[in-house]
Amino acid sequence: MTRRELEYESDAIIVTYDPKRCIHAEECIHGLPGVFEKDRRPWIDPAQGQADEIAAVVTRCPTGALSFERKDDGPAESLPPQNTAVLAQDGPLYAVGRIEIATSEGLQNETRVALCRCGASKNRPFCDNSHVEAGFADSGGIGEGRLIPSEEVGPEAPVAFTAAPNGPLLVSGSLTIKSANGSQSCSGAKGALCRCGASKKKPFCDETHAASGFEAD
Ligand code: SF4
Ligand code: FES
Repeated sequence: MTRRELEYESDAIIVTYDPKRCIHAEECIHGLPGVFEKDRRPWIDPAQGQADEIAAVVTRCPTGALSFERKDDGPAESLPPQNTAVLAQDGPLYAVGRIEIATSEGLQNETRVALCRCGASKNRPFCDNSHVEAGFADSGGIGEGRLIPSEEVGPEAPVAFTAAPNGPLLVSGSLTIKSANGSQSCSGAKGALCRCGASKKKPFCDETHAASGFEAD
Protein backbone atom coordinates (compact mmCIF):
# COMPACT_ATOMS: atom_id res chain seq x y z
CA MET A 1 0.00 0.00 0.00
CA THR A 2 1.30 3.44 -0.87
CA ARG A 3 -0.06 6.77 0.24
CA ARG A 4 0.02 9.51 -2.41
CA GLU A 5 -1.53 12.83 -1.54
CA LEU A 6 -1.89 16.10 -3.39
CA GLU A 7 -2.19 19.40 -1.56
CA TYR A 8 -4.30 22.44 -2.40
CA GLU A 9 -3.95 25.54 -0.28
CA SER A 10 -5.50 28.91 0.47
CA ASP A 11 -4.59 31.43 3.18
CA ALA A 12 -6.93 29.64 5.60
CA ILE A 13 -6.87 25.93 4.84
CA ILE A 14 -4.88 23.13 3.20
CA VAL A 15 -6.92 20.40 1.52
CA THR A 16 -5.17 17.11 0.80
CA TYR A 17 -6.42 14.60 -1.76
CA ASP A 18 -5.40 10.99 -2.26
CA PRO A 19 -6.67 9.97 -5.73
CA LYS A 20 -6.22 6.28 -5.00
CA ARG A 21 -8.85 6.53 -2.26
CA CYS A 22 -11.47 8.43 -4.30
CA ILE A 23 -14.30 6.12 -5.39
CA HIS A 24 -17.36 8.26 -5.24
CA ALA A 25 -18.36 11.34 -7.25
CA GLU A 26 -20.93 13.06 -5.06
CA GLU A 27 -20.21 14.74 -1.73
CA CYS A 28 -17.43 17.20 -2.56
CA ILE A 29 -18.50 18.24 -6.06
CA HIS A 30 -22.14 18.65 -5.12
CA GLY A 31 -21.33 20.10 -1.71
CA LEU A 32 -19.17 23.00 -2.91
CA PRO A 33 -19.06 23.10 -6.72
CA GLY A 34 -16.94 26.27 -6.83
CA VAL A 35 -14.18 24.68 -4.75
CA PHE A 36 -14.37 21.14 -6.15
CA GLU A 37 -14.77 21.20 -9.93
CA LYS A 38 -13.70 18.04 -11.69
CA ASP A 39 -13.06 19.57 -15.14
CA ARG A 40 -10.92 22.45 -13.83
CA ARG A 41 -7.16 22.25 -13.12
CA PRO A 42 -6.41 22.27 -10.31
CA TRP A 43 -9.75 20.60 -9.60
CA ILE A 44 -9.66 21.72 -5.94
CA ASP A 45 -9.30 25.47 -5.29
CA PRO A 46 -9.75 26.30 -1.58
CA ALA A 47 -9.57 30.04 -2.35
CA GLN A 48 -13.07 29.75 -3.84
CA GLY A 49 -14.74 29.06 -0.48
CA GLN A 50 -14.74 29.75 3.25
CA ALA A 51 -12.53 27.50 5.36
CA ASP A 52 -15.44 26.41 7.60
CA GLU A 53 -17.61 25.32 4.67
CA ILE A 54 -14.68 23.56 2.98
CA ALA A 55 -13.88 21.68 6.20
CA ALA A 56 -17.54 20.66 6.54
CA VAL A 57 -17.62 19.22 3.01
CA VAL A 58 -14.24 17.48 3.38
CA THR A 59 -15.49 15.65 6.48
CA ARG A 60 -18.37 14.27 4.42
CA CYS A 61 -15.90 12.47 2.11
CA PRO A 62 -16.64 8.86 3.11
CA THR A 63 -13.39 7.32 1.93
CA GLY A 64 -10.90 9.70 3.55
CA ALA A 65 -9.60 10.66 0.08
CA LEU A 66 -9.99 14.25 1.29
CA SER A 67 -8.61 15.68 4.51
CA PHE A 68 -7.79 19.17 5.72
CA GLU A 69 -5.52 21.18 7.93
CA ARG A 70 -6.52 24.65 9.14
CA LYS A 71 -4.05 27.53 8.81
CA ASP A 72 -6.43 30.04 10.44
CA ASP A 73 -6.76 28.43 13.89
CA GLY A 74 -10.18 27.07 12.94
CA PRO A 75 -11.26 23.76 14.48
CA ALA A 76 -9.79 20.42 13.43
CA GLU A 77 -12.09 17.64 12.27
CA SER A 78 -14.36 16.56 15.11
CA LEU A 79 -14.66 12.84 15.74
CA PRO A 80 -17.75 10.89 16.74
CA PRO A 81 -17.89 9.66 20.37
CA GLN A 82 -17.60 6.06 19.16
CA ASN A 83 -15.86 4.44 16.23
CA THR A 84 -18.49 3.22 13.80
CA ALA A 85 -18.29 1.12 10.64
CA VAL A 86 -21.26 0.90 8.28
CA LEU A 87 -21.55 -1.95 5.80
CA ALA A 88 -22.42 -0.84 2.29
CA GLN A 89 -24.71 -3.09 0.27
CA ASP A 90 -22.54 -4.70 -2.44
CA GLY A 91 -19.67 -2.46 -1.34
CA PRO A 92 -17.05 -1.58 1.25
CA LEU A 93 -17.09 -0.98 4.98
CA TYR A 94 -17.18 2.75 5.76
CA ALA A 95 -15.50 3.44 9.09
CA VAL A 96 -15.40 6.76 10.97
CA GLY A 97 -13.60 7.67 14.19
CA ARG A 98 -10.20 7.14 15.74
CA ILE A 99 -8.86 4.67 13.23
CA GLU A 100 -5.42 3.12 12.87
CA ILE A 101 -4.45 1.19 9.75
CA ALA A 102 -1.48 -1.14 10.12
CA THR A 103 1.01 -0.61 7.29
CA SER A 104 4.54 -1.83 6.65
CA GLU A 105 5.72 1.55 8.00
CA GLY A 106 3.66 1.37 11.22
CA LEU A 107 0.21 2.57 12.21
CA GLN A 108 -1.39 5.16 9.93
CA ASN A 109 -3.95 7.40 11.68
CA GLU A 110 -7.20 8.00 9.82
CA THR A 111 -10.60 9.49 10.57
CA ARG A 112 -12.60 8.14 7.61
CA VAL A 113 -11.87 5.03 5.56
CA ALA A 114 -13.59 2.78 3.02
CA LEU A 115 -12.25 -0.74 3.49
CA CYS A 116 -12.38 -3.41 0.79
CA ARG A 117 -14.74 -6.35 1.45
CA CYS A 118 -14.79 -7.93 -2.01
CA GLY A 119 -11.14 -8.98 -2.23
CA ALA A 120 -10.56 -7.30 -5.60
CA SER A 121 -9.17 -3.87 -4.64
CA LYS A 122 -5.72 -3.01 -5.93
CA ASN A 123 -5.30 -0.56 -3.07
CA ARG A 124 -6.01 -2.93 -0.17
CA PRO A 125 -7.01 -2.56 2.57
CA PHE A 126 -8.79 0.45 1.05
CA CYS A 127 -11.65 0.18 -1.42
CA ASP A 128 -10.90 1.29 -5.01
CA ASN A 129 -14.39 0.61 -6.43
CA SER A 130 -13.32 -2.79 -7.83
CA HIS A 131 -16.42 -4.34 -6.21
CA VAL A 132 -18.46 -2.94 -9.11
CA GLU A 133 -16.45 -4.73 -11.80
CA ALA A 134 -16.12 -7.83 -9.60
CA GLY A 135 -19.91 -8.05 -9.22
CA PHE A 136 -19.60 -8.27 -5.44
CA ALA A 137 -23.02 -9.01 -3.97
CA ASP A 138 -23.83 -8.69 -0.29
CA SER A 139 -26.90 -7.34 1.45
CA GLY A 140 -24.82 -5.44 4.01
CA GLY A 141 -26.48 -7.35 6.83
CA ILE A 142 -24.67 -8.68 9.90
CA GLY A 143 -24.36 -12.45 9.66
CA GLU A 144 -23.61 -15.11 12.19
CA GLY A 145 -20.62 -14.02 14.26
CA ARG A 146 -19.70 -11.15 16.51
CA LEU A 147 -17.04 -8.85 17.81
CA ILE A 148 -15.63 -10.01 21.13
CA PRO A 149 -16.03 -7.48 23.96
CA SER A 150 -13.23 -6.53 26.34
CA GLU A 151 -13.55 -4.74 29.66
CA GLU A 152 -10.10 -3.21 29.08
CA VAL A 153 -11.21 -1.31 25.99
CA GLY A 154 -13.33 1.79 26.64
CA PRO A 155 -15.75 3.23 24.06
CA GLU A 156 -13.37 6.12 23.27
CA ALA A 157 -10.40 3.83 22.49
CA PRO A 158 -9.11 3.87 18.90
CA VAL A 159 -9.67 0.91 16.62
CA ALA A 160 -6.86 -0.69 14.64
CA PHE A 161 -7.39 -2.64 11.42
CA THR A 162 -4.62 -5.08 10.49
CA ALA A 163 -4.70 -7.16 7.32
CA ALA A 164 -3.70 -10.75 8.01
CA PRO A 165 -1.63 -12.19 5.13
CA ASN A 166 -3.99 -14.01 2.72
CA GLY A 167 -6.72 -13.65 5.33
CA PRO A 168 -9.12 -11.36 7.14
CA LEU A 169 -8.96 -7.83 8.43
CA LEU A 170 -8.27 -8.08 12.14
CA VAL A 171 -10.06 -5.60 14.42
CA SER A 172 -8.52 -4.49 17.69
CA GLY A 173 -10.08 -1.68 19.73
CA SER A 174 -13.48 -0.10 20.16
CA LEU A 175 -15.82 -0.61 17.21
CA THR A 176 -19.54 -0.70 16.46
CA ILE A 177 -20.54 -2.26 13.14
CA LYS A 178 -23.90 -1.29 11.63
CA SER A 179 -25.78 -3.01 8.83
CA ALA A 180 -26.45 -1.19 5.59
CA ASN A 181 -30.13 -0.65 6.45
CA GLY A 182 -29.36 0.38 10.04
CA SER A 183 -31.47 -2.37 11.59
CA GLN A 184 -28.57 -4.43 13.02
CA SER A 185 -25.47 -3.54 14.96
CA CYS A 186 -22.78 -5.20 17.02
CA SER A 187 -20.04 -3.77 19.21
CA GLY A 188 -16.83 -5.17 20.59
CA ALA A 189 -13.07 -4.99 20.79
CA LYS A 190 -11.73 -7.90 18.75
CA GLY A 191 -12.78 -9.68 15.59
CA ALA A 192 -11.88 -10.85 12.11
CA LEU A 193 -13.68 -9.30 9.15
CA CYS A 194 -13.84 -10.95 5.75
CA ARG A 195 -11.80 -9.16 3.08
CA CYS A 196 -11.78 -11.96 0.49
CA GLY A 197 -15.47 -11.56 -0.35
CA ALA A 198 -16.28 -15.27 0.02
CA SER A 199 -17.36 -15.68 3.64
CA LYS A 200 -20.88 -17.01 4.22
CA LYS A 201 -20.96 -15.12 7.53
CA LYS A 202 -20.20 -11.61 6.30
CA PRO A 203 -19.02 -9.26 7.58
CA PHE A 204 -17.10 -11.83 9.64
CA CYS A 205 -14.43 -14.21 8.37
CA ASP A 206 -15.46 -17.87 8.31
CA GLU A 207 -12.08 -19.19 7.05
CA THR A 208 -13.33 -19.62 3.47
CA HIS A 209 -10.30 -17.58 2.34
CA ALA A 210 -8.09 -20.64 2.90
CA ALA A 211 -10.19 -22.90 0.64
CA SER A 212 -10.65 -20.22 -2.00
CA GLY A 213 -6.90 -19.49 -2.22
CA PHE A 214 -7.23 -15.78 -1.43
CA GLU A 215 -3.86 -14.07 -1.85
CA ALA A 216 -3.17 -10.66 -0.35
CA ASP A 217 -0.31 -9.26 1.65
S1 SF4 B 1 -16.29 13.03 -1.59
FE1 SF4 B 1 -14.29 11.92 -1.43
S2 SF4 B 1 -14.63 9.93 -2.43
FE2 SF4 B 1 -16.34 11.32 -3.07
S3 SF4 B 1 -15.64 12.27 -5.02
FE3 SF4 B 1 -15.04 13.65 -3.37
S4 SF4 B 1 -12.94 13.04 -2.88
FE4 SF4 B 1 -13.82 11.32 -4.02
S1 FES C 1 -11.19 -13.29 4.71
FE1 FES C 1 -13.00 -13.94 3.67
S2 FES C 1 -13.52 -15.80 4.73
FE2 FES C 1 -11.72 -15.12 5.78
